[in-house]
Amino acid sequence: MGSVRVRIGRWGYDGPMDPRPAPGIEGVVLGQGASSSFDGRPGMPDRFGRALRDLRISVTDRCNFRCPYCMPAEVFGRDFAFLPKELVLSFEEITRLAGIFVALGVGKLRITGGEPLVRRDLPVLISDLAALRTPEGDPVDLTLTTNGSALRALAGPLAEAGLQRITVSLDSLDDEVFGTMNGVEFPVSKVLDGIAAARAAGLAPIKVNTVVRRGMNEASVLPLARWARSEGLILRFIEYMDVGHSNGWRLDDVVPAAEILELIDAELPLEPVAAQYRGEVAGRYAFRDGSGEVGIIASVSAPFCGDCTRARLSAEGSLYTCLFAVAGTDLKGPLRAGATDAELAALVESLWSVRADRYSELRSAATEKLPKVEMFALGG
Ligand code: GTP
Ligand code: 5AD
Ligand code: SF4
Ligand code: SF4
Repeated sequence: MGSVRVRIGRWGYDGPMDPRPAPGIEGVVLGQGASSSFDGRPGMPDRFGRALRDLRISVTDRCNFRCPYCMPAEVFGRDFAFLPKELVLSFEEITRLAGIFVALGVGKLRITGGEPLVRRDLPVLISDLAALRTPEGDPVDLTLTTNGSALRALAGPLAEAGLQRITVSLDSLDDEVFGTMNGVEFPVSKVLDGIAAARAAGLAPIKVNTVVRRGMNEASVLPLARWARSEGLILRFIEYMDVGHSNGWRLDDVVPAAEILELIDAELPLEPVAAQYRGEVAGRYAFRDGSGEVGIIASVSAPFCGDCTRARLSAEGSLYTCLFAVAGTDLKGPLRAGATDAELAALVESLWSVRADRYSELRSAATEKLPKVEMFALGG
């Protein structure tokens, strides 16, 4: 295939540069019965017509890794004050809020963290969430993103509780590189064993997320691609992002999607394939020999805000309408003060209907320096 091109603009928003209400949407809050022109399902549009479809739920802000791009050890040391237990949403509270979001049109729930598997009794939450039904009566797409360190013990119980699929983060197959990128010298073999346990438990598909950072793991890209292809795993490379405000992000550290694709294509020829659903963050590329696919999440070089259907619920119960938000809206306060489901739904609708986030499309020297909430705190 000569050269692979990233489909820049595929998801691109090509409206006005200043966020402002789309014509006819200003001031209108659509109820849950209204049909969204986004994808035809019931739901409410934000200011750019984007429906609320995915809820990412952070169940803890804690993690046993210290990836320098997320929780650098020198900033998040032993004395760092993570959330005390009483400020973290209980499983009952999470399930109640998730049910409200599902009634409003959310069809996918992704459990995140920090590292979600450090939350005690997680399978209990999974079985509660697996029981939720969309307004059309369908089960939700229920999945989880993990660093894989505790999967050997938990893959079985999670699958039995109703988890369908899983995404595991793994930045290299080389112990030295991976040890540096996870910040605690966690061995590759244990993550691979966790992936094997997930497979044995029937979780499918298994996706693997790899953050690529210049000077750290470019040399890991091809070995990972070869491995994932031979194992039947869906590998997705993520451009290093300026999330949070502690990782010292520099544009020079980003390995652009086009470069990653060219690296793989030179040995394993690729061709672009269509997205599986509107709003999918990963661009998909199939191996031309039919042996699987890789994905690229090009949030820096080819932002996908135009179709962003994601909201994030933090472990302490705040709602964020963008991964790069500087502030969220507290849902736990009203929840604990006795708000009804209808009142909480109205609050979510009122927030979503005025949403105009498109950070990745506006990214500039000025926005990079904003005091953004850390990714582990708001649910990557
Ligand atoms: P599928 O449901 O399997 O399609 O997964 P997904 O791609 O929605 O979820 P996943 O958690 O695997 O996302 C992969 C990575 O993409 C995340 O860890 C983030 O690094 C990045 N990402 C996800 N959502 C967003 C987003 O809304 N904005 C930006 N900029 N990056 C995102
Ligand atoms: N840039 C890109 N991806 C990141 N992740 C965490 N921090 C960053 C960052 N700064 C990824 C993790 C994991 C997922 C939850 O988010 O590697 O795959
Ligand atoms: Fe932990 Fe994931 Fe952040 Fe790494 S990226 S420190 S595994 S939450
Ligand atoms: Fe969505 Fe914000 Fe990411 Fe854009 S930057 S895709 S609006 S979360």
